[in-house]
Amino acid sequence: MTKNNILSLSNVSKSFSDGKSVTHVLDRVSLDVEEGEFIAILGFSGAGKTTLINCIAGLEEADSGDVLVKGVACDGPGKDRGLVFQSYSLFPWLSVEANVAMAVEAVHKDKSREEQAALIRQKIDLVGLSHAMDRKPAQLSGGMRQRVSVARALAMEPEILLMDEPLSALDALTRAKLQDEIDRIREEENVRSFWSPMMLTRRCCWPTGSRL
Ligand SMILES: Nc1ncnc2c1ncn2[C@@H]1O[C@H](COP(=O)(O)OP(=O)(O)O)[C@@H](O)[C@H]1O
Ligand SMILES: [Mg+2]
Repeated sequence: MTKNNILSLSNVSKSFSDGKSVTHVLDRVSLDVEEGEFIAILGFSGAGKTTLINCIAGLEEADSGDVLVKGVACDGPGKDRGLVFQSYSLFPWLSVEANVAMAVEAVHKDKSREEQAALIRQKIDLVGLSHAMDRKPAQLSGGMRQRVSVARALAMEPEILLMDEPLSALDALTRAKLQDEIDRIREEENVRSFWSPMMLTRRCCWPTGSRL
């Protein structure tokens, strides 16, 4: 690992067992990611993209191998890694503003109320939803909901942004538009690394065979 690596995977393996059979999903995945890289993981459905993202996010524990974030072993979720889920995963009873505020209040406890409010507004503005701050998820289109998810992840001010097929539930036109916008946001934001299955990217990780 070089000093510029923000993320380092070394022989990461993960299997799932239902008691009768074992599914080997990740088989000694190794990868070094430098600051500022934008990486896509490509693989068929069931290849293990979500499992790999979850291991990096700290939501799953690898059976063996190391996940290092800035040289430190990943031990559960952390505010240095933001995650945008494949499904919107918003609280349906909360407004756009309150959904983003949940993340800000959980992660930025050290900030004043005014600083938190400014951060929430800035991220909602960044994804172009200032006009919809008070709307509930049911009052938003699919693309708008996914923008809220992006704003919520960015409001944590993570160093690594993990996105698990964030555009797969959208129609083709909305997907293309939001993809361009995520690229713009990436340029504007100080997130050091983006990971995203199935998006345009500067570097791709290909699976070998049917699994990662
Ligand atoms: N929690 C789990 N328990 C059992 N099997 C799982 C679990 N999560 C994923 N799998 C299995 O692991 C494989 C890879 O799943 P996943 O990482 O979701 O693939 P992808 O995101 O590439 O479609 C699939 O066969 C899936 O059924
Ligand atoms: Mg998946």
